[in-house]
Amino acid sequence: MRVTVIGTGFVGVVTAAVFASFGNEVYGLDIDEAKVASLREGKVPFYEPGLEELLIGEQKKGSLTFTTDYAEAIPGSEVIIIAVGTPSTPEGEADLSYVYAAAKSLSKHLDEGTIVVVKSTVPPGTLDTVETAIKEGTKVGFHMASVPEFLREGSAVIDTLNPSRVVLGATDQEVFAKLEFLHAPLQAPVVKVSPESAQLAKYAANAYLATRITFINQVADLCEHSGANVDEVIEAIGYDERIGNHYWYPGFGYGGSCFPKDVKELAYYSREIGLGHNLFNKLNELNEERIPLIMAKIERAAGGWAGKKVAVLGLAFKPNTDDMREAPSLKVIPILLEKGASVVGYDPRALDNAKKVLGERENLSYSASLKEAAAGADAIFALIEWPDIVGFDYVLLREEGKAQVMVDARNQLDKSKLEAAGYIYVGIGR
Ligand SMILES: NC(=O)c1ccc[n+]([C@@H]2O[C@H](COP(=O)([O-])OP(=O)(O)OC[C@H]3O[C@@H](n4cnc5c(N)ncnc54)[C@H](O)[C@@H]3O)[C@@H](O)[C@H]2O)c1
Repeated sequence: MRVTVIGTGFVGVVTAAVFASFGNEVYGLDIDEAKVASLREGKVPFYEPGLEELLIGEQKKGSLTFTTDYAEAIPGSEVIIIAVGTPSTPEGEADLSYVYAAAKSLSKHLDEGTIVVVKSTVPPGTLDTVETAIKEGTKVGFHMASVPEFLREGSAVIDTLNPSRVVLGATDQEVFAKLEFLHAPLQAPVVKVSPESAQLAKYAANAYLATRITFINQVADLCEHSGANVDEVIEAIGYDERIGNHYWYPGFGYGGSCFPKDVKELAYYSREIGLGHNLFNKLNELNEERIPLIMAKIERAAGGWAGKKVAVLGLAFKPNTDDMREAPSLKVIPILLEKGASVVGYDPRALDNAKKVLGERENLSYSASLKEAAAGADAIFALIEWPDIVGFDYVLLREEGKAQVMVDARNQLDKSKLEAAGYIYVGIGR
């Protein structure tokens, strides 16, 4: 089948490479010329394990072509997948302008009977407005579907090849049949639903995961005031099958390219339909205030930041990615600088992106070596659980007689060992 994926960001480029690997003829289309030029050379402009190898392989086979030209990529394609960004506005509304721009551009080249799939995360009702936008540019008949994406950055290739489910949102049996055929090699359960259910399922999935993170953070706060230990509470509640012991991450709150944005968009959507007094609006509020509250607690433990050297280890929003979107470092570092600390940032993959996003700032430097970044520090933040960060022996950097704070933002370090070595250990609810 010939397939075109519009938007070759995280989702689009993985989707295009995976469908090409199933024997389809795939076009990856983007308006960003530099990105397309880089992809043509087999270079993925972001770090995602396994993606570059897959991409180069499929390009060599001739099954995957990248272009900026709608006239080249749209005619002849049976399925067109829109995977452009949908960032949220400051008010939390999903910005659909990229989706509508893609719809407008593709409409001029559309063949009769093509299926246009919206994979970007969009609020319920968007399929109708995108259809209207396409109809303004074409007289041919076409079909619409909503196929949300559930991959996680850092394991995007594995997730796309082994999805827990494929959700197909459509109204027409022929559309379902064709999309089922396209997704058949994934051998995943297929959930066939209305477009609105597919769209809401995507938001509901991320809002639920964000709820678990927020919930366990609130439990961790209670642990700190009661002498309980959140790890023990998790073990104790996890035996109940309705709860489970998976996906409990006490920490600095949720970040990344999806959870904060999707919760905000769901909160905004709820407000728009008159249901704003709900969990999603509260979730967003709690997550926004999480880092300032924790930083105040750590500041008390450190006895203030003025004139202190602080190492911030882990700048991306999570391990195995160099994506800085809504990374905790972007909130933690400005607070430290504002309070008078000098900060050294370290990340095994995201240093370049961090420099771009954080920019040049007084008292902020970077190191490509974890050891160099943390040596002599008054406080070390193990912010993200990259294996080298949680595997490092911080006892080696302990300086006798000096007050040194060790912040274990993901509860991954050995508290007893660090305390025995003389560190002032700050974890989450332990
Ligand atoms: N990143 C994730 O982990 C993830 C997971 C699931 C769902 N999603 C959703 O998937 C969508 C895409 O996310 P992403 O992280 O891949 O975004 P991204 O920002 O990484 O990539 C979007 C791409 O779309 C391109 N683009 C914008 N307008 C275009 C146009 N008119 N024509 C062609 N290309 C255009 C941009 O140049 C960019 O390369 C979003 O709706 C997001 O919420 C993302």
